[in-house]
Amino acid sequence: MTGYKGPERVLSGIQTSGDMHLGNYLGAIRKFVDLQQKHDCLYFLADMHAITVWQEPAKLREQTFHIAACFIAAGVDASHSIIFNQSAVHAHAELAWIFNCVARLGWLDRMTQFKDKAGKDKERASVGLYTYPVLQAADILVYKATHVPVGEDQKQHLELSRDIAGKFNHDYKVEDFFPLPEPLIQGPGARIMSLRDGTKKMSKSDSSENASIFLRDEPDVIAKKIKKATTDPEPLPSEMAGLEGRAEAKNLVGIYSALSGKSDQEVLGEFGGKGFGVFKPALADLVVEKVGPIGAELRRLEADPGHLESILRDGAARASAIADPVVAETKKIVGFVD
Ligand code: AMP
Ligand code: TRP
Repeated sequence: MTGYKGPERVLSGIQTSGDMHLGNYLGAIRKFVDLQQKHDCLYFLADMHAITVWQEPAKLREQTFHIAACFIAAGVDASHSIIFNQSAVHAHAELAWIFNCVARLGWLDRMTQFKDKAGKDKERASVGLYTYPVLQAADILVYKATHVPVGEDQKQHLELSRDIAGKFNHDYKVEDFFPLPEPLIQGPGARIMSLRDGTKKMSKSDSSENASIFLRDEPDVIAKKIKKATTDPEPLPSEMAGLEGRAEAKNLVGIYSALSGKSDQEVLGEFGGKGFGVFKPALADLVVEKVGPIGAELRRLEADPGHLESILRDGAARASAIADPVVAETKKIVGFVD
């Protein structure tokens, strides 16, 4: 953020492309809740990012409300933090176009998430999927946000946002107009893996429904998924080094430590030498204790979409009030006649 003198502002978004899972909670939403104590925060539902791959319209609407409800159920306070859906604030799309003209093809060609999502047949991927990180830069910089809490998978996109901010400031000779946003990634839970395959991250789109714990899962479903989680036959080691090469065991220990607030080493101190027959029920109890109440609150909120709608409408108005002047100033800098 070298030299930037504006206020600190926290922003993050989550795509409305599926149900919220434990990785989203630990890698992102839980941090959102903590950060609002000390900062001005904007948290949005990235519906425009979601449609970079096909979304059934009715499902898209439902998922937008679902994620808004997850934020609130997990403790985001809508009267303090600003919660809104991206497509309701026109400024994102407007700034994204300008940034499309700042970002270089070579930069986007290096984005690993595009390569992962487009797969082998990249000719058939949407153009939106390719310029996805440019829209993400606009999401952040349209509020001149300085800090962005995300999971580890977003690190490269945040670097691109910094590159775009830097190039814009440089090319238009407006030093420190845009801040260089900093990712907030550290902390337990930054990378939660699938319960079925410890080398793949937990994701909304996994084909196996036992791979992810969803915030909407009822306690018995949570317990069943943990019981079925892939593991090896060895007992847990007493030292971290003993988890090397044991991706699934390491992931379960990581989930336990992230939810309990204990370090991985402390967890191993407690469970070292014990088998999964002991560890899994303890983990299931902990997940149910921490995630169960969020699920219950989530169901209560989802039963009243009118209330969620009014929160989003109010959030969009508050967000636009910050973003519109930034876009107006940016257009002037670019040389557009208004
Ligand atoms: P997404 O589900 O890709 O829209 O991600 C929403 C937020 O959750 C982002 O900040 C991601 O970095 C974070 N996230 C997604 N999956 C995981 C995971 N498996 N572990 C930790 N954080 C995650
Ligand atoms: N790309 C992010 C993800 O998949 C979601 C996102 C969109 C985002 N715009 C953002 C995150 C701006 C932080 C800031 O997780």
